[in-house]
Amino acid sequence: MSKTSDQIRREFIEFFERRGHTFVRSSSLLPADDPTLLFTNAGMNQFKDVFLGTGSRPYKRAVNSQKCIRAGGKHNDLEDVGHDTYHHTFFEMLGNWSFGDYFKAEAIQWAWELLTDVWGLPKEKLWASVFGGDERLNLAPDDEAEKLWPEVTDIPPERVLRGSIKDNFWEMGDTGPCGPCTEIHIDLGEDKCDGSAHPGIACGVNVDGCRRFIELWNIVFIQFNRDESGKLEPLTAKHVDTGMGLERICAILQGVGDNYATDLFAPLIQWIEQASNVRYGQSDQVDTAIRVIADHARACTFAITDGIIPSNEGRGYVIRRILRRAARFGRKINQHEPFIYKLVPVIANKMGQFFPELIEQQQRVMQCILEEEQAFNKTLDRGLEIFESAVEKVLKEGSKQISGETVFELYATYGFPVDLTQLLAAERGLAIDLAGYERKMEEHREISAAGATAFQVPAITDLPQTDDSAKYTSTPIRAKVIGWIIDNNFIRTGQLPPGSKAGVILDKTNFYGETGGQVGDTGVITWEDGQFRVEDTQIIGHCVVHIGEVENAPLEVGTEVTPQYDADRRMDIMRNHTGTHLLNWALRMVLGEHVNQAGSVVAPDRLRFDFTHNKALTREEILQVERLVNEAVLADEPVCAKIMPKDKAEKIPGARKVFDEKYPDPVRVVAIGADDFDINPQRARTIEFCGGTHLQRTSQVGFFKIISEESVARGIRRITALTGKEALRYIQNLDESARLAAAILRIPMEQLPQRVEALQQEIKRLRKSATSAGADSASLERLLDEAEQIGQVKIIVNQVEAKSPEQMRSIVDQLRQKSKIPAAIMLGSTADERVLLVAGLSEEVAKTHNIHAGDWIK
Ligand code: SER
Repeated sequence: MSKTSDQIRREFIEFFERRGHTFVRSSSLLPADDPTLLFTNAGMNQFKDVFLGTGSRPYKRAVNSQKCIRAGGKHNDLEDVGHDTYHHTFFEMLGNWSFGDYFKAEAIQWAWELLTDVWGLPKEKLWASVFGGDERLNLAPDDEAEKLWPEVTDIPPERVLRGSIKDNFWEMGDTGPCGPCTEIHIDLGEDKCDGSAHPGIACGVNVDGCRRFIELWNIVFIQFNRDESGKLEPLTAKHVDTGMGLERICAILQGVGDNYATDLFAPLIQWIEQASNVRYGQSDQVDTAIRVIADHARACTFAITDGIIPSNEGRGYVIRRILRRAARFGRKINQHEPFIYKLVPVIANKMGQFFPELIEQQQRVMQCILEEEQAFNKTLDRGLEIFESAVEKVLKEGSKQISGETVFELYATYGFPVDLTQLLAAERGLAIDLAGYERKMEEHREISAAGATAFQVPAITDLPQTDDSAKYTSTPIRAKVIGWIIDNNFIRTGQLPPGSKAGVILDKTNFYGETGGQVGDTGVITWEDGQFRVEDTQIIGHCVVHIGEVENAPLEVGTEVTPQYDADRRMDIMRNHTGTHLLNWALRMVLGEHVNQAGSVVAPDRLRFDFTHNKALTREEILQVERLVNEAVLADEPVCAKIMPKDKAEKIPGARKVFDEKYPDPVRVVAIGADDFDINPQRARTIEFCGGTHLQRTSQVGFFKIISEESVARGIRRITALTGKEALRYIQNLDESARLAAAILRIPMEQLPQRVEALQQEIKRLRKSATSAGADSASLERLLDEAEQIGQVKIIVNQVEAKSPEQMRSIVDQLRQKSKIPAAIMLGSTADERVLLVAGLSEEVAKTHNIHAGDWIK
């Protein structure tokens, strides 16, 4: 019986614990405060600060098994998943670390000892590789590691090979800790060679296309930090960072040679086989589908558990793409209804002991995946049809490429991520017109941006660029009239008579044109004897258009004017804009790092903020968010804006931007809490890319109040809030209403809830007793009078006014008692647009005639 994955993981951890390592739990898949990473992609991520010398831990040696996703960013395996037996989007990485403690000798020796002595892998099948240097980058070969291998282990020197920078120099991302590495590979035997794809190339370590040799363990000697300019800065201390894929080592130790055949995947594969009536090993097509679904279900389950929710942006979109890819492969094994969510408990059951969060979050994760599947299923089949007819057309035309238009249609209407369409195309031996798709996408963006403005955006392309840099200042400026847009024409000469409505264009302005969610300014443009009232300001291309009406004297091209925005209104807008940044920050503090901006409106009278989160906020969460924002307001912190090169801004840790939003270069960055945020980002409360206008200090927000929280789309919530004067007005209104209600009830305001509750109860009670009371005696007399008598039985069939069945029944009882002879009674009533029928028989009648009141009604 081979070892299970749980045993293998435990033995790895215990081996290093015995050598002085502290076990550290896997960090979240959502990288904490590291904008350079999409997902946690290696065990060392959580120790990045230790390597860089900016953080420390109470231990110098660590061991863990880390959840990793490599689907986007520097390390991306998504496209390969399913097509082979050893790539994954999600995997676990076993690792041991030394923080400035032991170095190459121990790391190499222990790895060898664990693999060969403890786990008994055949030594003659193992190979090592070391960094062979790179002249171009002026990096020396790792002679030390090369020499150490045969010294500290019994590997023969000829099985220690030199490798290139590609294979033997490890980096976590474009920047960050890195260094040369030594890898351990295993030779799986000649029969595993798939080098036939590369005729003439001999099998070997790190030979692409060869499955005979596979990498098992990577031991990195962290010695450098790659900085933003791409330079390698040597670190003061030297560290060890190792990583071994759990799935791979399990496949080797369990002797199955296929990661998907290990016990880690067995319950998933079995579930899929049963649910779809297929068999793993049945055919290439089925096997690929099974692998994709099993892999992607794990990635999505783990990611969503860690708060990475499928969405239309950033990492959330990667998860959505993975899920959609899985749903599409589901079709290949006849899964047409949502099914991936059913794998969540299978995964939690298998791995929940080591990752208890899987069990804790199971219900939420299932629900989330189910909703995603339901949504995509609605369009998937139709999308596949569209795709098929596009393929037919392409083949008929003898082309090899799916048009950008089709790719765009599939994306925009059917929710097909571009890489999904690409995959579908590749399966048919076709490519997609990516450039054409990008063009369509760009057009679409422009149209939707234009559609958002109230002003009829004319189809004018040669509008001049306006210098609007003065919008951030309050100093008055002078400008010149360039022309105006009227009836879809751009006029550059002549006069605009009083009463004309137009969009005036100046050479420069201090008006803020609507953008980034912030509404456009209003105000006046004045000149010697005239005034143009600005009702809205919009941006077309790079041109700021002041929309409004000429009030008295005509406006002439070339006139010198003074543009003056409404400063009070602008101040209210700024309160809401700074308030929005604080809200964005507070939501992340209260709900978690998965909160991302999904849209916003910053107006003078309110702010509206849409964000990713997949359930309604509790009252307590809302109050907590309000408290945090108001605390930041009371702290009277500085709000600072700096314009800087985009690549520099992008590297500021914690700097946030809105996905899909296009930012100019240089870009404006707004931070709250620290004016030196570009040097000391950790001092700032929030840092955002933002072109909007902001307060100077948080205290100018005045007071912040949330007035509603609702859902706008699946996984997107919306908060509307007030600041400053509006917040005061809102509170005063509420206070007045409460005061009035309390005065009517003659109680103190604080007792309102209890009293209203008591009144409600009272009303309910009264209503009930009113509806269950019978009829007055006059009505009863009338009913008896109007009744017919047949033999010795009174037949009372009549209409009454009753509100409830109870009331009718009590009238029937009253009649039965009041009638001097046996009675058969049937009453009808209409109450609340319902018809009520009740019948009752005196006992004698029922007996003599052998009938029941119920049958009579029927
Ligand atoms: N960080 C290295 C890797 O991911 C070793 O753990 O391969």
